[in-house]
Amino acid sequence: MVVPRPVLTQPSPGSPFVLGPTARISVAGPGADAVGRLLSEALADDCSRDLPVVAEPPAFGDIAVVIAHGEGAHDDGSDSAEGYTLEVAAEGVRIGAATPAGAFWGVQTLRQLLPAAGDGDGDRDGLTVEQVRIHDHPRYAYRGAMLDVARHFFTPAEVKRFIDAIVLLKVNHLHLHLTDDQGWRIHIESWPELTRIGGSTGSDGSRGGFYTQDEFRNIVAYAAERNVTVVPELDMPGHTNAALASYPVLNPDGVARPLYTGSDVGFSTLRTGDAVTRRFVRDVVREVAALTPGPLLHLGGDECLSTAPDDFVAFVEEAAHVVAENGKTPVGWHEMGKAHGLPAGTVGQYWDFTTPRDRSAEYAVTFVRGGGSLILSPSDAAYLDIVYAEGDPIGQDWTGKPTTLRDAFVWDPARVIPGVGDAHILGVEAALWTETVGTIEEVEEMVLPRLAAVAEVGWSPAPADTEPVEAARDLDEFGARVARLAEHWDATGTRYRRVPDVPWPEPVG
Ligand code: ACM
Repeated sequence: MVVPRPVLTQPSPGSPFVLGPTARISVAGPGADAVGRLLSEALADDCSRDLPVVAEPPAFGDIAVVIAHGEGAHDDGSDSAEGYTLEVAAEGVRIGAATPAGAFWGVQTLRQLLPAAGDGDGDRDGLTVEQVRIHDHPRYAYRGAMLDVARHFFTPAEVKRFIDAIVLLKVNHLHLHLTDDQGWRIHIESWPELTRIGGSTGSDGSRGGFYTQDEFRNIVAYAAERNVTVVPELDMPGHTNAALASYPVLNPDGVARPLYTGSDVGFSTLRTGDAVTRRFVRDVVREVAALTPGPLLHLGGDECLSTAPDDFVAFVEEAAHVVAENGKTPVGWHEMGKAHGLPAGTVGQYWDFTTPRDRSAEYAVTFVRGGGSLILSPSDAAYLDIVYAEGDPIGQDWTGKPTTLRDAFVWDPARVIPGVGDAHILGVEAALWTETVGTIEEVEEMVLPRLAAVAEVGWSPAPADTEPVEAARDLDEFGARVARLAEHWDATGTRYRRVPDVPWPEPVG
């Protein structure tokens, strides 16, 4: 009953494991201590238990976390960077992995197998797990969630709460959309007005805000402890009104734009080809690259409807080279694939539909031809700001129809762009744009449970080539597993939408 569905689950008969009052977490191997501590913290939240972490061999009834070569479950017997094996027996639980990342994902699986909040009325004796052996590793290296902190700002504490929610689903990248027309959210020492002016408001005149560089580093570190890589996005040359409001010199006519709190797109552009704009790009990329231990830096490049086509191509090629010179791999939305001179290996993020329209597939293929790979975020499946149902008060409807749990679940990344299979797909990402989403509770209700579907699409094994994707993805079976997740969401105060198709537990409280 785990989401994402593991590669192999072998239940066995026999007495279940009981998480008894003297249970400990026994850790062995490099990095196991930190993973053990995170397991201990999670069990305190999930089921009010306080397990000590000990560097001693496991005794009867303990949970062992072992990190060593050869433990990282791959189908061919080799170590997978994020693979793990979880064995549950009456004597104890053992999580084995070759890396802390693998062990951490094994921890998430164990959390899901344990009943959250005890069985019934906090009955701690009821914390049992049936015997099972799970062997698991991800289909894709990149499973992402994007949070748009530019339209509505979310505090560092709220971003950490979001990270806590995504790791239960083994999502390992947090893409922060840091800049847009409505707000600039990361402090840049060399251009301080970006946050002083550009960070002062947000969509619908909301509170505004920004991360100091220390706050941003702290978010990145919190994520990294949980095996989540932060991908910062500086969207340019369009989606830049907040920057244009902060510095007159960035504007094509040299006049600062007013701050913008509406929801239109495509009206703003940097003054491409200009020496000051070049300096701006070098400065912001350099500072954000220096704050980012992860390999990726996203440059946006979407919906540049006010930039002349040739200027757009010249600008994104130059800016992407600046990213590469700063030691990062550039990422761009698929429109950036109009440019054929991007640095080798530039990653594209595809956001058109599961059936491509216009030239979106052609632009996406540019990245593959350039030696890069693709992140798939088809907007009719993986854009979690789209309403769940007609008439929802929160959410957008520009894709033409609501995105149900089925829509988020029943698609396959390798069947979206003709000719682009798993060898060229880095992974999947669910995106939450926040024009209409103003609080962290609303964020969670838009994201959960649909993120569980996208996470499973990104982690669990590919459907057989011969099998229609509708046959491979059993919504009823998935819904039953999602219902189990809801116990964890209830126990941790995480909000979610009680969509149809899921046999939800009785509401708490
Ligand atoms: C996008 O939705 N404009 C990437």
